[in-house]
Amino acid sequence: MDYQSIKNILFKFEPETAHHIAATAFELASFMPPVLNALQKRYLVTSPLLEQDIFGKKFANPLGIAAGFDKNATMTKTLHALGFGYVEVGTVTPKPQTGNPLPRLFRYPRYEALQNAMGFNNDGAEIIKKRLERIYPADFPIGVNIGKNKTTPQAKALEDYRFLIENFKDLADYLVVNISSPNTPNLRDLQNEQFIKDLFIMAKDITSTPILLKIAPDMSPEQAVNLTATAVEAGADGIIATNTSIDYSLLKGAKDFGGISGKVIKDKSFAIFKEIAKELFGKTVLVSVGGIESAEEAYRRIKAGANLLQIYTAFIYGGPKLIADINKGLIEALQKDGYEHISQAVGADIR
Ligand SMILES: Cc1cc2nc3c(=O)[nH]c(=O)nc-3n(C[C@H](O)[C@H](O)[C@H](O)COP(=O)(O)O)c2cc1C
Repeated sequence: MDYQSIKNILFKFEPETAHHIAATAFELASFMPPVLNALQKRYLVTSPLLEQDIFGKKFANPLGIAAGFDKNATMTKTLHALGFGYVEVGTVTPKPQTGNPLPRLFRYPRYEALQNAMGFNNDGAEIIKKRLERIYPADFPIGVNIGKNKTTPQAKALEDYRFLIENFKDLADYLVVNISSPNTPNLRDLQNEQFIKDLFIMAKDITSTPILLKIAPDMSPEQAVNLTATAVEAGADGIIATNTSIDYSLLKGAKDFGGISGKVIKDKSFAIFKEIAKELFGKTVLVSVGGIESAEEAYRRIKAGANLLQIYTAFIYGGPKLIADINKGLIEALQKDGYEHISQAVGADIR
């Protein structure tokens, strides 16, 4: 069955129910090596042109599944087999959380957009750690995205991140500090230079596992550049830009809560990424995410300085074939421009 037919069925369900159905199937598949092999043969695009060594680990292709899809590390292997060069698990919080009241996930098929107000629903550090112990290290990179519990007061936020870094530092190829979700009250207030300095200085004391900062798209380019430069100075190993947007004017019919994602945030997300890259290209690892839905857009981000890319919403609308098509399209674009390796194209537009 092709993804279009599967999507026609899944889209008949509420978005979160559809996610649970897919998650159950993906989790089952993760225990079946023959199924994983078959999927990998069909969807995982590998090529010497796309392969990069980053964080001491081999990335077969630059496209990762963005945080929030595999919140509980139950589908990690299947997502790799479905074409992603790497998988970011989480956001994981110290204690389990049920998240915000339902409904909290909405589709906008006309615009190939999503809006979500999930609020870090996840199984919590203890359970997710056990799952990762069974699969890490894998033959592909795994990142773990971490966030504070909703009930943790702001003044104690640093303690949550310390706990999570200590618990996951040996179970991930990289960690991501998430202070950019719009769905945990006041979380984005932590996007200030003092907190970021304190956080990375603390983190660097605990581990040498690479730690990245993920930022929101809803700030001025100057603010974004200052924050990310501060993070890198304090020891951050990379920047992921961006999370979902709370600029509801970007999506006709949007609700006035949660974060929007997909094509509608493409330009906003790219604009912020580009400014950050101008400042930090060559100094740290740059990951671009937000509205990527084609090989053309993926290539634009790479030429603007992205070492790696991530996708969430376009995967919902396009399925694994889209991931394969983007990777194949990247190979073609590199060859057309006479590059022998993706690293020659990274930042080509700003060098
Ligand atoms: C349903 C949903 C849940 C998400 N959950 C998380 C999360 O837990 N942590 C996080 O850092 N980002 C989360 N995100 C944001 C994505 O990782 C990504 O940054 C954003 O959707 C933009 O990429 P896209 O346009 O390709 O979807 C979530 C996005 C969606 C749509």
